[in-house]
Amino acid sequence: MKTFYIKTFGCQMNVYDSQRIVSMLRGRGMVQTESVEDADIIILNTCSVREKATNKVFSELGRIRDRKKTSALFGIIGCVARESGADAFRRIPELNFVLGPQSYHKLPMILDNPDARLLNIDLSGLEKFDELPPMTDSPAVAYIPIQEGCNHCCTYCIVPYTRGRELSRAFEDVMRDVRDAAAGGAIEICFLGQNVNGYRDKDSRTLADLCRDTAKIDSIKRIRFTSSYPTEMSDDLIELFGTEPKLLPFLNMPIQSGSPDVLTRMNRPYSLELYIDIVRKLRAARSDIQISSDFIVGFPGETDADFEMTCDIARLVGYINSYSFKYSPRPHTAAAIMRDQIPENIKKERLKILDDILTENNRAFNESCVGQTMSCLIEGPDKTGRHIIARTPYMQKVIVPAMPEQRVEEQKSKRVKNKHQLSYSPTLLLSVKITSANKCSLRGEIAA
Ligand code: 5AD
Ligand code: SF4
Repeated sequence: MKTFYIKTFGCQMNVYDSQRIVSMLRGRGMVQTESVEDADIIILNTCSVREKATNKVFSELGRIRDRKKTSALFGIIGCVARESGADAFRRIPELNFVLGPQSYHKLPMILDNPDARLLNIDLSGLEKFDELPPMTDSPAVAYIPIQEGCNHCCTYCIVPYTRGRELSRAFEDVMRDVRDAAAGGAIEICFLGQNVNGYRDKDSRTLADLCRDTAKIDSIKRIRFTSSYPTEMSDDLIELFGTEPKLLPFLNMPIQSGSPDVLTRMNRPYSLELYIDIVRKLRAARSDIQISSDFIVGFPGETDADFEMTCDIARLVGYINSYSFKYSPRPHTAAAIMRDQIPENIKKERLKILDDILTENNRAFNESCVGQTMSCLIEGPDKTGRHIIARTPYMQKVIVPAMPEQRVEEQKSKRVKNKHQLSYSPTLLLSVKITSANKCSLRGEIAA
């Protein structure tokens, strides 16, 4: 029986793409392996959003090249494939295939013609969604892409180049995926898109409409979406946080910088006033809503005063679960050739300062949760097997002592092996009383 090895780098969109590939290869009778040495086909699904991510892929390819069977097919898919194109073959001559994020459904061509070399980095739009077989099984949390690409063209971002212009999938196609996921065991749906709240189908149906229809499915208990662009937050969607209890009170809405000048150079044309007003409306709709952001420090021309404004907004909004990155110049982007690139040591210093603020926000919010009882979704056992890791409605990690033997057995019989394999069981949602907190996680006990 032929085996395949797949390793995924980067965002949830890549995780989804990998799941589709796994499903397709299994459908062809292949078996997944964790061992590069044994695999007949080796696939790296790659991320190119920062230079470090791209470098990581090439060093991993070098390592795999020395360990794999000579007969094994070996290649990359995803954003590095699109970024590097034919250059990937020059850097790693043993590669058999290089397929972009919108052409990985062409993978069977190389399986059928193993002596060929396959390069396809076309932006084929939504074709891959129709060409790959639907997934029959679903993890407890189903990530469902509702669009591809992005039209925002932030000057630092390679995504519009690697994933192309923004395209929304047909409403009925998305809802079919939601129903399939629910039937396959999902209890949480997370809609995905680079600009997820910009979703619009041909009849102008929106993300809010998708959430409303999804909430009608009984077995789906939690709904969320990521990542939202601030100015695409419609009043209809904001109000849904107040009226739809299945919509989790947690929103990722990156601001990237707190400086109006930097935002202009990033080509993110919103004012701080507008952003803060959206946060105010969200909190008016749902008072406990928590917001997370992505930040870039050391963007070209960023002064100390600009950076201070980023720190101010991070404290003011009180973001939780946020990500901060040092600006990384990327090919095919406007910011890479801007003047006043910031030296690495300053980027590093600024990142540390911002990270401390974000950690402090997490700690303060985590501590405010002690004593509360929350419905949490089980992800799986921890490494020791003595605890269970679950997620609160605000996406915090909560550690709970493992359930009594009998309930663990009950879970096992439902194939609960790890967080990627959880399937539906009413016990996957637990009522947890939060007993203590630190800056990165909560501890709790089963309340009911
Ligand atoms: N350098 C650093 N961070 C970046 N991001 C996107 N492009 C770059 C870059 N060139 C960050 C943004 C985005 C997140 C997914 O990655 O913060 O929201
Ligand atoms: Fe990149 Fe996000 Fe900006 Fe789109 S909105 S260009 S994906 S950072």
